Amino acid sequence: MKILITGNLGYVGPGVVNEFRTHYPDAEIFGFDIGYFAKHITNNTIIPESYLDIQYYGDVRNFPERLLEGVDTVVNLAAISNDPIGNKFEEVTLDINYKSSISIAKMAKRMGVKNFVFASSCSVYGAAEDAARKEESKVNPLTAYAKSKVFTENDLAGLADEKFKITCHRFATACGMSERLRLDLVLNDFVAGALTSGEITILSDGTPWRPLINVKDMARAIRWSHERKHDEGGHFLIVNSGSDQWNYQVKELAEKVQGLMPDIKVSINQNAAPDKRSYRVDFGLFKKLAPDHQPLFTLENSIKGLIDGLNFIGFNVKDFRNSRYMRLYVINHLIENGIIDNDLKLISI
Ligand SMILES: NC(=O)c1ccc[n+]([C@@H]2O[C@H](COP(=O)([O-])OP(=O)(O)OC[C@H]3O[C@@H](n4cnc5c(N)ncnc54)[C@H](O)[C@@H]3O)[C@@H](O)[C@H]2O)c1
Repeated sequence: MKILITGNLGYVGPGVVNEFRTHYPDAEIFGFDIGYFAKHITNNTIIPESYLDIQYYGDVRNFPERLLEGVDTVVNLAAISNDPIGNKFEEVTLDINYKSSISIAKMAKRMGVKNFVFASSCSVYGAAEDAARKEESKVNPLTAYAKSKVFTENDLAGLADEKFKITCHRFATACGMSERLRLDLVLNDFVAGALTSGEITILSDGTPWRPLINVKDMARAIRWSHERKHDEGGHFLIVNSGSDQWNYQVKELAEKVQGLMPDIKVSINQNAAPDKRSYRVDFGLFKKLAPDHQPLFTLENSIKGLIDGLNFIGFNVKDFRNSRYMRLYVINHLIENGIIDNDLKLISI
């Protein structure tokens, strides 16, 4: 069995590699990534790519079709994967997240790949506080990032058939420790703030709803989409991926961290403009279709995992919001140092 994972050198990828390697010790597993964040390892063990058969480096905008020969499953993680970068690089975000995903999916179909797994996002629901959104609910993408996910889902729908199964996971916001940790995610930011300055600063008024999922539970869900049969959800499936127990308001997340670290202070910015990105999500379909791949982590043990992981690496970056733990910071740094251009393409040496 051959599995190709694009974007494996990011926050989610290492867990996905691990999940497949653990469950399929004999599989051939390949990674493909441009490597923007490759060197930012955040654990003291072996690099996660040691579990791969081959690591390819390249740009998904120029993906070599030959790499798909004999591949059974493509897990497409490569993306400009947050709003701050997406807002600054809108066209690039569409090129990488949308056009390249569709182009790789078309190549995959031509090359006889059986499964295509796409990492979409619950952010497609945008502003949706009133009732928990289901897969058939109207989408309301508010940012270039969220739009790129909607466009991709729409075009992928036309490609699936009895030989080419497509799963679009609309993932909740990720959290938790990873071998390539990032702190530009709400829970991770709170834990880092609590550890380094004894304070959580909520950048909104704390009321927005945000479903969360542990990054390792994302990997379990992805493995399920590789294993699922066509009659378990159909040739083409969009599925909210997370758990109904994990719909939280941002201020509740801060309180949970405080529950484990009682001495810390939580400051809510009462004057903050309301954050329009607020959504509650119904994960009932995922529970029905994938009862054996439901999230295993709790919010508490995700927080503990972050505390332990950050302590283990001796993390003490007080100004972490301006550090290599933020993806926009890394991208800006690569541009400023002439490593990538304004289209985020590698500048040749
Ligand atoms: N983290 C979340 O909260 C979350 C939630 C829902 C969905 N997702 C989706 O899951 C996927 C993985 O997310 P992540 O948090 O690991 O993101 P990440 O930014 O940490 O990693 C993305 C990876 O894609 C690679 N990449 C970007 N552009 C590329 C290009 N042109 N060619 C080749 N590789 C390229 C980067 O180098 C990076 O290693 C993304 O598609 C993201 O949109 C993430």
